[in-house]
Amino acid sequence: MVTVGIIGAGRIGKVHVESISTKVANARIKMLADPFIREETAQWAKKMGVAHVTKDYREVLADPEIDAVLICSSTDTHSPISVEAIRAGKHVFCEKPIDHDVAKIREVMSALEEHPVKYQVGFNRRFDHNFAAVRAAVDAGKIGEIHIVKVTSRDPEPPGMEYVKVSGGMFLDMTIHDFDMVRYLTGCNATEVYVEAAVLVDPAIGEAGDVDTAVITLKMENGAIAVIDNSRKAAYGYDQRVEVFGSRGMAAVSNDTASSAVISSAEGVTGEKPLHFFLERYMDAYAKELQYFVDAIENGTDTPLGVVDGLEPVRMGLAAKKSLAEHRPVKIAEIG
Ligand SMILES: NC(=O)c1ccc[n+]([C@@H]2O[C@H](COP(=O)([O-])OP(=O)(O)OC[C@H]3O[C@@H](n4cnc5c(N)ncnc54)[C@H](O)[C@@H]3O)[C@@H](O)[C@H]2O)c1
Repeated sequence: MVTVGIIGAGRIGKVHVESISTKVANARIKMLADPFIREETAQWAKKMGVAHVTKDYREVLADPEIDAVLICSSTDTHSPISVEAIRAGKHVFCEKPIDHDVAKIREVMSALEEHPVKYQVGFNRRFDHNFAAVRAAVDAGKIGEIHIVKVTSRDPEPPGMEYVKVSGGMFLDMTIHDFDMVRYLTGCNATEVYVEAAVLVDPAIGEAGDVDTAVITLKMENGAIAVIDNSRKAAYGYDQRVEVFGSRGMAAVSNDTASSAVISSAEGVTGEKPLHFFLERYMDAYAKELQYFVDAIENGTDTPLGVVDGLEPVRMGLAAKKSLAEHRPVKIAEIG
């Protein structure tokens, strides 16, 4: 049995409380820490089996019974709390992104060299049943040499403006999952990024210095070309699709829907919209990523993705920002 402490009781912190409590049999939550935790969240956590709620995450790090921490607090806290937790000898599951600053992620890497605990980053989409099936087809050689990867990733609605202002921009907040997906599907790093982007959804996003619509092309180390298209608002829901095309074939997935019913009538033929957003679409993936993390601790094996998998998408995101600002292709090597 692995004993965990969860730091951050916001949207994703609560998802992980629920997953550990209800779906990961070999883990239990001893403590949940959040300086701004609401009374109703604390009551809910107790009902979910959390033994103790605190406002101070250092209480989690100081508890000798706690084997591992899940860092689910605001992005600017991820790398400093990672370093503290690693030095305290705790295994760490850290939500994405580890940091917006490559130098800070390298500090986490140095801490891990000194204290080699397990470290996993929250790129949950790798654990989605659809994307895992595409990756399995690639691994089985059914696609052959990969030539083209396409990722469509469109949200049903933009986040609130307060969030947009501190998110680090669309590439580091949203596209970062797609950068990870391209690495996951191709099994290699990107070498170059080029971006076309615009503000087509909400002018307030542009006034905050961000974009809401983008097409990003990437050159990969294995020669493949990848293209990601993003929108902060798809009128029909959360649009999450990938395609991998290669010398021997192609693998593609469609969106998950509440049912696969297709209704044909005199008016036309209709089906369900995609599941609304990430909480609907990825609940199973969130539980599965934690099951892998806990099993790695129990069995002394590697986590399925580590700190380098947290670093590379941030470098890709920073290269994308530079490409947009300078309107040119940017080599990943230009980023630290
Ligand atoms: N993997 C995913 O699909 C996914 C989805 C959503 C969010 N996230 C990531 O998770 C992080 C949190 O996002 P969210 O949507 O849950 O945000 P949120 O604002 O709902 O929650 C963040 C929580 O962290 C708390 N917090 C801030 N500083 C803290 C500290 N020092 N110690 C403990 N708690 C602290 C806040 O009080 C808040 O309750 C972000 O970095 C985000 O990028 C990942």
